[in-house]
Amino acid sequence: MIPGSDIPGPLTILGADDPGPVHPRTPPARGDPGHHGPVRTIDWRGDHVVIVDQTRLPHDLVHRALHTVDDLVHAIKTLAVRGAPALGVAGALGVALAALSTGDTREQAARVRAARPTAVNLAWGVDRVLAKLADGTEAVVAEAVTVLEDDIRLNRALAHRGADWLQARIGKPITAHTHCNAGALACVEWGTALGVLRALNERGALAHVYADETRPLLQGARITAWELAGMGVPHTLVVDSAGPSVIANGLVDVVVVGADRIAANGDVVNKVGTYPLALAAARHGIPFLVAAPESTVDLSTPSGDAIPIELRAADEITSFNGTRTAPPGTAALNYAFDVTPADLVTAVVTEARVVERGAP
Ligand code: MRU
Repeated sequence: MIPGSDIPGPLTILGADDPGPVHPRTPPARGDPGHHGPVRTIDWRGDHVVIVDQTRLPHDLVHRALHTVDDLVHAIKTLAVRGAPALGVAGALGVALAALSTGDTREQAARVRAARPTAVNLAWGVDRVLAKLADGTEAVVAEAVTVLEDDIRLNRALAHRGADWLQARIGKPITAHTHCNAGALACVEWGTALGVLRALNERGALAHVYADETRPLLQGARITAWELAGMGVPHTLVVDSAGPSVIANGLVDVVVVGADRIAANGDVVNKVGTYPLALAAARHGIPFLVAAPESTVDLSTPSGDAIPIELRAADEITSFNGTRTAPPGTAALNYAFDVTPADLVTAVVTEARVVERGAP
């Protein structure tokens, strides 16, 4: 730890033959706006992948080396790497790992593609790189690295586009509510929803952020709060079920969230708990902004009903931190995502456009 703060100390690299950090630097102290810039969530090292292990945040900032497709699939399933854009990059790099291995590239790519069902970016990243297979391994790796580099550029662009939209609409220092983690740690270096807030912060136009803790895996409490602290943004954590009350009590000007998939009709799938925020935003007349790259838009899926919603293990709900909290035998329905109907979404911002809808 950095003394006097809860910001983790220098990066640790896990993985026997790793030569050292991707970006050898000590994270600066709380309040340094550059805190997360050079720390990539996921990166390519010539023949293997390195990720920030998000299961260890906020206590430890450690990088983990992934040398095989099995390593990568395990990291995706356990949410060591997570967030739709980062999953797109993981899919792309997974095909590069497969192509460099002695195994069947297509079979391994199919396993990466199936590791999580909801965020369309994962399949998108796999398919985009797989299309280069006929051109040889070098072309596959080059395409995967392009997907990674593009993620930074495109999310920075969408962040500024979203910040422009909010400033034009709200016209005063903005207080926002967000859910889950759609920050740098859900992408490569620049976030989507949290990227919009980061851009506002850099312009001196962000007053405060309310973040939901995001049950049951606490991406909001563990990761978003950590990123906001790193950016020096004043923020307040609330339990998920308090989100609508924060809105009803007039504490926020806008809700800004990311997305795991946007259907052709504009329905938005994001972390479970997003839909109640959209209902509350509509009820109380504040905008509900979705920030996501074009790779999250899935025109082949007609509506939210057709998007597969990941169901995760019951013990994520029936126990906490390894301690059982529900009586033995309690059934649990652990939806990881929900569907927000298009008519509740004020606007979707991508790197290319802002699509506005009828809501406030
Ligand atoms: O289960 P997770 O942590 O992968 O879910 C992540 C989310 O729902 C994010 O809000 C979404 O992927 C957008 S990330 C820019």
